[in-house]
Amino acid sequence: MADVTDPKIIDGKATSLQILAELAEEVLSFSRSFRHPHLAVILVGEDPASQVYVRGKMRSAEKSGIETTQITLPAETSEKTVLEKIESLNGDGGVDGILVQLPLPGHIDQQRVIECISPSKDVDGFHPYNLGRLAADKPLFVPCTPSGIRELLTRYKVSTEGKHVVVIGRSIIVGKPMALLLARKGESGNATVTICHSRTSGLDRISAGADILIAAIGRAEFVKGEMIKDGAVVIDVGVNRVEDPESKKGYRLVGDVDFKEARERASLITPVPGGVGPMTRAMLMKNTLLAAKRARGDVDGS
Ligand code: GUN
Repeated sequence: MADVTDPKIIDGKATSLQILAELAEEVLSFSRSFRHPHLAVILVGEDPASQVYVRGKMRSAEKSGIETTQITLPAETSEKTVLEKIESLNGDGGVDGILVQLPLPGHIDQQRVIECISPSKDVDGFHPYNLGRLAADKPLFVPCTPSGIRELLTRYKVSTEGKHVVVIGRSIIVGKPMALLLARKGESGNATVTICHSRTSGLDRISAGADILIAAIGRAEFVKGEMIKDGAVVIDVGVNRVEDPESKKGYRLVGDVDFKEARERASLITPVPGGVGPMTRAMLMKNTLLAAKRARGDVDGS
């Protein structure tokens, strides 16, 4: 566990708790005049990492006063059954947000499932409509990990204005929306963004030019010290399990960044765990409240 008293550490856990506390007040006053915002989470199969993530989301919801329903389905559940479940939640006026934990078992078409979720309840922001809205500069729901990272940068007073941001990873969960968000015109945007990925040539050189380096490639300790410019801000999105016979669980969690090496070069760095992960969950709760406000008709959802 990183030392959170270290001035170089961006403490995502503490920041997320602060956001959840702020949100809890808003949720309380909202619920007095309407009802509690309600998030439905679908988990298919028994992937241990997904189970941990879903438990974390449930805990964050509880902290912010958001009602939840967890739907756990066996790994062999057919795609049709998952789609029918989503359709029923789409039509349920008491449900504001729908989240299907990814990845799904191989026999289920992930994209079809994402596209089945009503864009107005898509609190993950992965539906092509919502990704398109973000690309068109008219976002409805911004994916939670990128918006959590933006929030951390803002709260730690890291300006993105004119900075060179390098994002390693091109997924729709992190890389692509992250790039769109930071390149947007306006406050907390205005960055020059480069997206790198597994096929990028000269990645080390490109990443070493980054003022802000965001690693979301899904490979344990992929980013080494020499890939980081002195004084850069390093955001580590990765959560990888590596074997560790000395740990009680038999494994430990590491990020996509070699923390020890990066800590020497960076001016600020997020730890794993306790960095980006808790912020993703806090932003999910924010999106759920936003969905509920739109359901009540408070905020424009068109
Ligand atoms: N799997 C890994 N990250 C996420 C996420 O942000 N949302 C969902 N639904 N699944 C994930």
